[in-house]
Amino acid sequence: MRIDILTLFPEMFKGFISESIMARAIKNNLVEIHLHDFREFSESKHKKVDDYPYGGGAGMVLSVQPVYDCLTSIDGYEDALKIIVSPQGETFKQSKAYELSNKDHIIIMCGHYEGYDERIRDYFDYEVSIGDYVLTGGELAAMVLIDSITRVIPDVISKDESHINDSFNNNLLEHPHYTRPREFKGKEVPEVLLNGHHKRINEWRLDKSLKKTKKIRPDLYKKYKEENNG
Ligand code: ADE
Repeated sequence: MRIDILTLFPEMFKGFISESIMARAIKNNLVEIHLHDFREFSESKHKKVDDYPYGGGAGMVLSVQPVYDCLTSIDGYEDALKIIVSPQGETFKQSKAYELSNKDHIIIMCGHYEGYDERIRDYFDYEVSIGDYVLTGGELAAMVLIDSITRVIPDVISKDESHINDSFNNNLLEHPHYTRPREFKGKEVPEVLLNGHHKRINEWRLDKSLKKTKKIRPDLYKKYKEENNG
């Protein structure tokens, strides 16, 4: 998969793409990341990328020209899926991460402004928000998207690190996990996990998942119940 990022702060991505699973996915040619500083495309004398809003009002508005020229300089941009990250988008979900992991080419636009010139939106397919809070810019949101998409691309994570049992895959939060030691400061690993009885272990895990989801995410629990016949 090829991912192009339009940003005013390409340096913010350097650590993200050089560590851990992202770095491995890039090294193994499963993902290609291209960073574009759209300020470089500004035709204004001082490389400005924003301007005052027509009609007045507070704050600056991101101009369409540098974004358009940067976008259209990208190889294959016409056929790519083009996404803006912004608090005004549809909320990003695990199901979307799976859907996007099948794409060959994604372009993500990160803004740093209160307002975008509305005409920028015409060149993108849709907007995505990572949650009901406002960040200073779209870069962290873009990294969240890229991380969650990359880890579900086939072969990015091994079977041992499998994402099949992740929270949200079946509208349930994950069950608790334990590893050695068997006892730590008087806290014991539940007996059921120690006896190798897989049916009982799976029942215990499902029960824990259900109880946790019902308590912490009643919205997800309701969905689970609806999809599993009450
Ligand atoms: N930019 C600023 N806040 C954001 C959010 N919540 N999601 C996506 N992009 C953003």
